[in-house]
Amino acid sequence: MAKKIIDRSNVVHYCFLCVVSLWQANAGLLDPISIGNELQKFSRDALGTDQMQVYFNGLQYHKQTLNGEDLKTQLAIKLADKFKARFEVTKRLKRAVEASYARRGIGNTTPAAKECCKADLSMLKYNENFRCSVDMDNMCVKISGRAPPNPVHLDEGVFREIKEISRLYPFIKWQYFASDEGVMTNFPVYHDKDECSEYDPRYRPFYVETATPEAKDVVLVIDTSASMLALAVPANIRCLKEYVTGLNPHGKTHYKRAFQKAFSLLKASITADETAKPKKRVILFLTDGAPSEDEPRGPIFQTIRDMNLQLNNSVIILTFGFGSVDQNTREILQDIAVQNTARYNVSVNSSVGDITPGIFTPVPDS
Ligand SMILES: *[C@@H]1O[C@H](CO)[C@@H](O)[C@H](O)[C@H]1NC(C)=O
Ligand SMILES: *[C@@H]1O[C@H](CO)[C@@H](O)[C@H](O)[C@H]1NC(C)=O
Ligand SMILES: *[C@@H]1O[C@H](CO)[C@@H](O)[C@H](O)[C@H]1NC(C)=O
Repeated sequence: MAKKIIDRSNVVHYCFLCVVSLWQANAGLLDPISIGNELQKFSRDALGTDQMQVYFNGLQYHKQTLNGEDLKTQLAIKLADKFKARFEVTKRLKRAVEASYARRGIGNTTPAAKECCKADLSMLKYNENFRCSVDMDNMCVKISGRAPPNPVHLDEGVFREIKEISRLYPFIKWQYFASDEGVMTNFPVYHDKDECSEYDPRYRPFYVETATPEAKDVVLVIDTSASMLALAVPANIRCLKEYVTGLNPHGKTHYKRAFQKAFSLLKASITADETAKPKKRVILFLTDGAPSEDEPRGPIFQTIRDMNLQLNNSVIILTFGFGSVDQNTREILQDIAVQNTARYNVSVNSSVGDITPGIFTPVPDS
């Protein structure tokens, strides 16, 4: 989408340049008649208005009475078909991707696509449909710098299906798939000017909105201890930086208080409406250090167990460790994420529902 907008602005820019250079040619004269002549010439030769007029003049017009009701029905059918075809394409792609995943480890596992940032530019040809230069005989991948070491790649089977879709449905343009490991497979190949590992599809709206389309209650807990503020916050949460910087830092990290507050906010958000679909509840816990030395671990896990129990164990906790977190901090953030309370002598109570384990994500300085 962004690409198309850029292309259009280039066109406008180009025309603007034409006007400017014509103007400069006559600037010394400042003769309104000759400027007028130049502008007329411009509209005739560059914009082709004369030819357009000739074309319109040559058209035949005739009167016709239209039935609004019929038109409406026809339009509805056309629109429905439009969506149906696109759903069909999406379903075909989904099946192809699933089949590729199922074939993993069987025979040839060499990736079917090169990285987009390393595309062979000599293979790219300008394509009217895509409004840029593309290679229709290949697909390419963008691998996030935060993807695991050997992420899954899609195989040739997916490529064949993509080619077939592009042949059968010429109105379908870009076809892409983003995996939960942070790999985006894209068709066709284009000139990717981004840094190779910079793009992470998992943070793009198309991924987030389709991966988790239902509403959730989310509480974001940010550690405001002094050490947290010295950190360089990575690009994907850059927007949080200003907010974090604006918070009043104090010396220590208090986990128990933070979780008490987070759970009570979630509890307060429960609606009286019993027919409402139960919402997922998530706590995002961002810190750069272990709890303060003098904070006992047991009560932290007791709080998590007890307060999640009150919410039918519906709360998922995702923890993020910023900077170079030590082994001790890693361990406790990992235990909090999976709610491994038993390790701290706080037995799990799943009488009201199973606990959904979250994950711990280290966020190194970039
Ligand atoms: C927990 O489950 C019980 C029984 O299904 C229900 O009555 C109660 O409203 C639930 N509480 C929350 C916070 O979802
Ligand atoms: C858990 O309880 C056992 C036995 O009572 C004790 O040995 C251990 O130190 C306790 N662990 C923690 C983390 O409190
Ligand atoms: C588990 O939680 C339920 C609901 O709060 C409570 O009635 C029950 O006694 C608890 N079980 C244990 C073993 O603590």
